[in-house]
Order: sequence, then C-alpha cells, then structure tokens
Amino acid sequence: MKRSQINTILREAEAFIGTSGFKLPAWASYTPDIWAAKLASGDYDEVRDLALGWDVTDYGQNDFAKVGLTLFTIRNGSLTNPRYPKGYAEKLLISEAGQVCPCHFHFNKREDIINRSGGTLAMQLWQSTAEGELSEDTFTVSVDGRRVCCTPGLILRLNPGESVTLEPGVYHAFWAEEERVLIGEVSSVNDDENDNRFYVPQARFPMIEEDEAALWLLCNEYR
Ligand SMILES: [Fe+2]
Repeated sequence: MKRSQINTILREAEAFIGTSGFKLPAWASYTPDIWAAKLASGDYDEVRDLALGWDVTDYGQNDFAKVGLTLFTIRNGSLTNPRYPKGYAEKLLISEAGQVCPCHFHFNKREDIINRSGGTLAMQLWQSTAEGELSEDTFTVSVDGRRVCCTPGLILRLNPGESVTLEPGVYHAFWAEEERVLIGEVSSVNDDENDNRFYVPQARFPMIEEDEAALWLLCNEYR
C-alpha cells in the first residue's frame, strides 16, 4: 500500500468513528514527531509493546477495497510479558462495503464481534478440523446470548447492536454488506504474531511504499 493511501484511510476512519460518537484516546492522533518524544519518555511502553493503536491492512494483496480492514486496538495484554497481565483486549474495526476480512480462526483468542453502527455485517462461519480444514460439521455460536445452530459456511448477518461470540477454532470471514460498518471486538488477549490461522496464508500487515510522510504511525511502527 502507498503511505498516501493509508493516510487517507486513517483520516476517513477518524471521521467515521467520530460520527458514531465513539471517542478514541488522545494518542490516536499523535504525529510521528510527538510519538518520538512520548516513546523516549518511557511512559508509553505499553502502547508500543502491545501494538495498540492504528492498524490498516490489505493482507498483502494490494487491493484494499476488496480485501482489507482498518483497526484500532484500544487495549490488550500479553501472554508472555509479565509487565502486561491484562487478560483481555478491545478493538474497533472498520469494514467497507464489499471489503472482505479473509477467512481465519484463532488458536487461543475468544472474541465477540459486535456491529456497533453503520450497515449490516455479514460473517461466514465454519468449524475447523484438527488439520485446519473447513469442517463439514454443524456447530453452534452465541448471538447476543442466543444459541444459533450453524451449518458449514453459514452467512450470519449482524445488524447494528448485534454481536456474535467466536470460540477459538471457528473459521470466520466477514464484510460489510452495503454500507461501511463500525465493528467492536471484545476478546481475550490478541496476539497477531502467533494466534491467527488464515485458511489461505496471508500477510497480516501491508508492505508500505513511502510516497509521502506518515500522518500517524501504525501499531507496528513505534519501534
Ligand atoms: Fe478474528
């Protein structure tokens, strides 16, 4: 992705989140210069070490309109660093209409995906087999506390206010149907380095072509 494209996506994401009434921490709009000073102080180690903040990805496919996601990690813990014993994480995600987050499951993370506002969020679900394939078995998920039986590949539609709990091992791909969706994610600890199993292997972070200065740093750019 070009940096100029990422900058545009970030500006639009901030505006869209603003229209929902959701507020981000002040550091969401720190410039790279401000970050340089803040990180040097040592007071923001947690933001850096847990990769909090902005995350724009095209999953390495260079077709952000069709395959991608914009995320903001608000809080997280660590499974390996005792400085950060928090056992939970929270993110905001923005899915554009027709933009797919590719099919994946998490080995350990249990996550609630919540349609906070916007259009309808579609999510296709399968149980995984021990070999990491798409299982042909039916399974159940919890939709706002209601048990829902899923046939393999079922497309669940979540309207604003609705949510689903995804247990570890449940393959999920999702996209906004006709309108951009602001998605909440409340989960156990998030570990993008080790906990994601994509059905078709994907890069988790984009390759960036630096064609202009970064507006804001992405979560893997604090170091
Ligand atoms: Fe996920």
